[in-house]
This record gives sequence, structure tokens and C-alpha cells, in this order.
Amino acid sequence: MEKEQERKNIIESLEKELKVIKTKNDLANLKALYLGKNGIVTNLSLKMKDIPNEEKREYGKFLNEIKDEVSLKLETLLKEIERKELEEKLASEKIDITLPSKKIKKGSLHPMTRIQNEFEDIFVSMGYTVYDGPEIESDKNCFQKLNIPKGHPARDAQDTFYLKDEYENFLIRSQTSTAQVRAMEENKEKGPIRIVCPGKVYRRDEDATHSHQFMQIEGLVIDENVSMADLKGTLELFCKKILGEKTNVRFRPSYFPFTEPSVEVDVTCFKCGGKGCSLCKQTGWIEVLGAGMVHPNVLEMSGYDSKKYQGFAFGTGMDRFAMFKYGIPDIRTIYGNDIRFLNQFDRKDGE
Ligand code: PHE
Repeated sequence: MEKEQERKNIIESLEKELKVIKTKNDLANLKALYLGKNGIVTNLSLKMKDIPNEEKREYGKFLNEIKDEVSLKLETLLKEIERKELEEKLASEKIDITLPSKKIKKGSLHPMTRIQNEFEDIFVSMGYTVYDGPEIESDKNCFQKLNIPKGHPARDAQDTFYLKDEYENFLIRSQTSTAQVRAMEENKEKGPIRIVCPGKVYRRDEDATHSHQFMQIEGLVIDENVSMADLKGTLELFCKKILGEKTNVRFRPSYFPFTEPSVEVDVTCFKCGGKGCSLCKQTGWIEVLGAGMVHPNVLEMSGYDSKKYQGFAFGTGMDRFAMFKYGIPDIRTIYGNDIRFLNQFDRKDGE
């Protein structure tokens, strides 16, 4: 009976104290008060030594029971506190989905990506496929097979970056005309070809209109009965599509070792419309393309029968078109990765 009273007293006082506990911290202190080293329940076991032997077992059982009962009550409150804490957290972190969202800034395509897309779209619509070639090329593909043997003065104009040591016959390509050679050599049937090859090229240049790295696009058409008229028609149509219907196109005789005859293509200045201004140096014309009929030597070197097949090729710097179309005065800004420059081309809403 004495034990029972003791148990009742302990539980009653515990329950009273549990009623006012609000935090996990206070609960931990209360737990120490009852179950800690000098705790109320712990101290009960000190009495064991005064208990007669035959009752010791019974008393041990009593001690365990009261310990379990106290632990259970403490544990229950702990769970309750934790549940409340979680509820409060969830309530305070509730997301209001009706709040207006932050505006996400839309980026835009780099002007070079844009112009490349425009070039590709126009030529694909004319039945060309887009052809890709490597930037590291052999001297053979970049020059020799384009009718520019070692020591040929035409190499000087593309004074370029050669690789060293065991790669000394390789360079980072100075022109995308390498694609002509590759496309012809890869074509095992030696049949018709119609490709454009956009890509980076490298030359030892650097000023406001020349960068050591720039973007060219090469075109090559090979078939039976291809003539200069096809070349003219194609490039006239292309220039009008990319620069506007009002653009006039003029062909001037020129020289490239891999085309014969060769031409340079001028368009009416898009700034002054042909009247003459500082951009076109008062001539009314701007040179935009190099082109010509594929030289028979070039066809033969890549396995084509030059009696049966003819072709035309053209090449141009896409950077120049981007500069003209988007009004970029310095080519170096195109490759500078300055975000202030790029931001000028950001899409406007609705675009
Ligand atoms: N590859 C020449 C250049 O870089 C351009 C060109 C291409 C000329 C195709 C004729 C035919 O200057």
C-alpha cells in the first residue's frame, strides 16, 4: 500500500508538471528531474537496500513499472509537442499560390546564332543540306586539294595558325572551303552534291572588321550541266532573301585558285541604298561573297570526272552579315561575351 501511494504521488506530481510544459527543452529538464541520475524515480532504487530480501523482487518490479509509466507519459507529451511544432511550421510556411510571380528575364539567341539560322533556313529551302566539318584540318584539305600547293602565294592572304611537331601538316582551318574537298571525297558514287557548311575559321588578323576567329559559310553545288547562270541566280536570290528584296547584286571578275572563272559579289549598301555613304566608302556597293565555278583540277583531285560534272562554290563571312543586319560596328564585340552587348539583342515581350 505504501508503494502504491508512492506511485500515485509521483504520477500525480508528474501530471501536474506536464500540464504546464510547452517546449522540448522544458520537457527534457522534467525528464532529468524524474529519470536523471538523481531523479525522483532513480532515487527510489536507493531504498532497495532497506527492503527485506523476500520483497526485493517485488520492489524491483514496482521500480520498473513506475519507470515505464513515467517514460510513457514523457514520451507522449514529446510527441504532442513535436506534432504541434510541425503544424505551426507548415502553417507559417504555407505557399500562397495567388501571389504574383517574379518576372523571369528572357534571354535571346546570340546574333551569330541568329544569322547562322537565317543562312541555313534560306539554303535548306533551296534544297541544300547543312554539312559540318572539323576545325582542325590537314594542309591537304585546306590548301593542296583546293589547287593551292605548298609555296603558292594565295596562302599568304590566309596567313594562318599551323599546329606543331607531329601535327605540323595540320592547322586550324583558314576557310570553310575545306568542306568542298571533304564533301567530294566522302561522296563515294561521285554524284551530285548540294551543301552549305557553316563554321568557325581562323586567320592571323585583328582589327575592327577582322577577328582572328570568324564565321564563314561555304556552299557547294556539283551536278551535270551546272553553269555560271545557276551560280548567279542562286546568289542573287540569296542576297535578296537575307538583305531585303530591294537589294541589287553585282558580280565582278576575281581570282580564287579553286574556282575558274571566279567572281566577287557586291550588294547595294544597306545603309544608304546605293547612294554612297561612309559604310560603303561612297561607292554604293559592299562586297559580301567570293564565288566561282569549281576548278576542274579541284574536281579531279577529289575523284570527280570534270568532263561530266561541273559545280559552283561560294563562301562568305557570316559575321559581316550580322554586322550589317544588326548594326554592329566592331566585329570584336561579337566574340567578347560582354553581357551588355548581348543584352541589346534580348527579346522584347511578345517577340
Ligand atoms: N574561301 C574563300 C575565302 O575564304 C571564299 C570562296 C569560297 C571563294 C568559295 C570562292 C568559292 O576567301
